[in-house]
Amino acid sequence: FPPTLIDRFQRQVSYVRLSVTDRCDFRCVYCMAEDMRFVPKPQVLTLEELYRLAEAFTALGVRKIRLTGGEPLVRNNVLSLVQRLGRLPELEQLALTTNGSRLAGLAGPLHDAGVSRVNISIDSLQPKRFRELTRFGELATVIAGIDAAVATGFKGIKLNAVILKGRNDDEVMDLVEFARERSIDIAFIEEMPLGRIDEHSRSLSFCSSEELQQRIAARYPLTALGEPGGSAGPARYYSMADSRTRVGFISPHSNNFCHLCNRVRVTVEGRLLLCLGNEHSVDLRAVLREPGSSLETLQHAIVAAMALKPEKHHFDNSGEPEILRFMNMTGG
Ligand code: GTP
Ligand code: 5AD
Ligand code: SF4
Repeated sequence: FPPTLIDRFQRQVSYVRLSVTDRCDFRCVYCMAEDMRFVPKPQVLTLEELYRLAEAFTALGVRKIRLTGGEPLVRNNVLSLVQRLGRLPELEQLALTTNGSRLAGLAGPLHDAGVSRVNISIDSLQPKRFRELTRFGELATVIAGIDAAVATGFKGIKLNAVILKGRNDDEVMDLVEFARERSIDIAFIEEMPLGRIDEHSRSLSFCSSEELQQRIAARYPLTALGEPGGSAGPARYYSMADSRTRVGFISPHSNNFCHLCNRVRVTVEGRLLLCLGNEHSVDLRAVLREPGSSLETLQHAIVAAMALKPEKHHFDNSGEPEILRFMNMTGG
């Protein structure tokens, strides 16, 4: 094999996002419908299968793995997977995206197992609102999780806030202050139209990154950081003169980061998705579960899949999702 994954547009894939569960203890209004049906257990990749995928990807030049969900920390025995991944010699960065609900107890063990970066969602600093937006979340528990992560000494901590007009757009400055007090990063995210959620109107709640950026810059002048996101991601990051906190904006509706995209993702069912905003995919679970399948057959399937990575995504906010899969299948 060539030791690297290169697609048709000469982009090198070095970053994989693995969804370890579609389940979650929250039901954020923009992510899930109220009556979600989850994937039956036999269709979910086992921890062993997830590990074999990670082995195949790292052998092909992947250097960063981010575990996502649903909520990755509700998966049974997830720590045993994290510990094995932490020992993969080629892996340079093991990261996790979480809602923070179980982080107070798990920050230390995750760090010890080799997780170096955590991204934690927090959309509001008002307990009642936080509950409304997450349907089940308790703000104090999540803040305790964030503070445990800060105390643990991860290399990087980033907060994620999805901003919705009329629901939490008045809290943007409070969230910036919250991040500044802890010297951690924060990204503001435009909502993406994934999955059909009848109870929630996406076209009414859309809030653009430009507007937020102007509001923050009026209080703290922002200096653009050279490299977009540090990891060729969808976020644009800025520094502030008197703080270590960086402020990012994730604007999926402008797809101008696609030409730098270095990531692919694996859904909870083992579908290798070449782009978040398209359905091009390859069923790696079928390959994993073929009798006699080896690391080599898996690597072949992954290399062949690169030809399917589309040049860019396109989202519109007409209200009708073009992508029917929900965000919790991929964790973003
Ligand atoms: P790093 O770059 O690894 O630090 O993480 P990130 O900010 O990309 O990931 P995180 O899991 O914190 O997700 C933040 C937001 O970015 C979520 O809303 C994701 O859906 C979104 N996101 C992640 N990857 C992509 C992508 O390839 N395309 C688009 N449009 N959005 C993405
Ligand atoms: N649009 C944008 N971001 C979303 N997230 C979940 N659903 C959506 C959506 N429809 C965010 C979460 C979390 C990250 C992994 O993805 O808030 O921070
Ligand atoms: Fe759970 Fe994250 Fe989706 Fe919220 S956004 S329901 S925390 S997976």
